[in-house]
Amino acid sequence: MKNRGSVFIDRFGSKVICFLIGLAFFLAGCVATPADEKPLRLFSPSSELRDSSDYFSRSNDGMVAAAHPMASAAGSQMLKIGGNAIDAAVAASFVISVVRPQSTGLGGGGFLLHHDAEKRRQRVFDFRERAPGKASPKMFLDDQGKYKTVRYAGKIVPNPAVNGHLSVAIPGLVKGLLDIHKSGGVLPLSTVLAPAVSAAELGFQVYPSLARDILNRKDMLEIFPASRDIFLPNGRPLKAGELLVQKDLAKTLRAIIRDGSYVFYEGAIAEKIAAEMKRGNGILSLSDLKNYKVIERIPVSGRYRDFKIVSMPPPSSGGAHIIQMLNMLESFDISSMRPQGSTYIHLMAEVMRRAFADRAKEMGDSDFVDVPVARLTSRRYARQLMQSFKPEHASRSSDFGITAPAGESPSTTHISVVDKWGNAVSTTQTVNYSFGSCVVAKGTGIVLNDEMDDFTTRPGAQNVFGLITGEKNDIQPRKTPLSSMSPTFVFDGKGSFVMAVGSPGGPRIINATLQTIINVIDFKMPLLAAVHAARVHHQWMPDTIYLESASLDSETRGTLLSYGHQLTAIEAIGDVQAVQRLPDGTLVGVSDSRGDGKPSGP
Ligand code: DON
Repeated sequence: MKNRGSVFIDRFGSKVICFLIGLAFFLAGCVATPADEKPLRLFSPSSELRDSSDYFSRSNDGMVAAAHPMASAAGSQMLKIGGNAIDAAVAASFVISVVRPQSTGLGGGGFLLHHDAEKRRQRVFDFRERAPGKASPKMFLDDQGKYKTVRYAGKIVPNPAVNGHLSVAIPGLVKGLLDIHKSGGVLPLSTVLAPAVSAAELGFQVYPSLARDILNRKDMLEIFPASRDIFLPNGRPLKAGELLVQKDLAKTLRAIIRDGSYVFYEGAIAEKIAAEMKRGNGILSLSDLKNYKVIERIPVSGRYRDFKIVSMPPPSSGGAHIIQMLNMLESFDISSMRPQGSTYIHLMAEVMRRAFADRAKEMGDSDFVDVPVARLTSRRYARQLMQSFKPEHASRSSDFGITAPAGESPSTTHISVVDKWGNAVSTTQTVNYSFGSCVVAKGTGIVLNDEMDDFTTRPGAQNVFGLITGEKNDIQPRKTPLSSMSPTFVFDGKGSFVMAVGSPGGPRIINATLQTIINVIDFKMPLLAAVHAARVHHQWMPDTIYLESASLDSETRGTLLSYGHQLTAIEAIGDVQAVQRLPDGTLVGVSDSRGDGKPSGP
């Protein structure tokens, strides 16, 4: 939906606007970076939460929730000068690419759901990475079927599906965001990208979790010189409070403003990426970049009580499994259960177990394999799956169909936006694992993804998030790896927009998004409480309920153990960013206290 903000820009000249936005962002970068280390705060719903302004914002004119204050502020700035939800989402996405290089970036990809308020329709854009033309099912294996040993400059690069040049799939983020902007943005691209250019060129303060993430990936980042120069200047990991300036990335962004996605997929940047790949014996080629296409898909949708859920179809597993799990939950009176009580947690774990067992068997890129979305999201199938549910007895995952520790890297990011016209965006973007492949294409400032690890890289083996997938998710040229990213919208029974929601967290994305929806619909929690409430996670294998540390009383633990569940404590499940429209039209934005975000309205 086109809006009229561009008139303002034409009158005042986009250069002046860009300068002002740039200046504002430099200042914002100095003062508004995520504050000091936030201890994990697990809230139970209570009214005191409404005062928690760190994670909460309210406005009538639009709202952006993102995982860094500079990204939300960039989006909000676009809304203020007449931009719509697409302008805001694209601006926030490019800023987050600069300030969360551990999570996402121009070398990554993502999914975006757009709600057009005037036409009352939703569009889905898939700009996820795809396998290079030379990729093949056994590309990571040696003759004995074990993972190959790969070296760079004489050093061993462990796990080549997660680290180094071979792990890189064709990046889709730039083309995706530019195509989306072209399809519905109203502000000039130069205005929308100005905050990202400033953040890269003038720098921003390294925040505590970024410093920690650099330290965690130090061994890998220091193998590749272009990565080392940015994140370990002078051979030392950047520390919290230092300024991270990314001059090459700023030049890349300026080239994109000037030449559009051509420069990234066919021009000078494409050539630099291809040269980097040759240097590290990668397989991604110039022709892979040239042939990259954004795919518009049809969203998956379902009903839950009086609400309509619209979410991401395959190659994401997220949308279909959220709907599948809601179908399984619908016959239970959840509102009468205690949110973190044993009855509720047991039910959630059993529902998650069943959905994730199907994820492993049935899910892959639907352009290549048959994915039975209609069956998975049918009520009849949900009833069938729940026939084996026992209220006081844990099922066994082995009855549903492979064991691994479920990891979660501090990567991937979600952005939710609603503008004053009622248009909305829900988008999840990633480079996969923390700092993706850890390879920066020399001279570009671009951190390249390691999305190849989301394929089945070895039959029966777990990926970096402990997930096991099957043949449907095998590696084929130009195929898209299976994802859990679940950008989602909730509408009420009359079709009015209620909420945009999503999260990072690998497999935990699906369950973090599901629990936020349940908290709003069933427990009727205010959004702040719904996002902050403790979460649980089960992913079929390993057969355990992951609980956020210290979130359960000992009686509840005891009951769950007596049902036969294994319990594993972990630090955090997800980093939800959500925007809700209240019945009176007020927009509420919430960023998860588990992360560094802060919502912002114009
Ligand atoms: O697409 C996926 O499902 C994964 N590449 C997402 C990775 C992720 O969320 C890491 N975050 N914590």
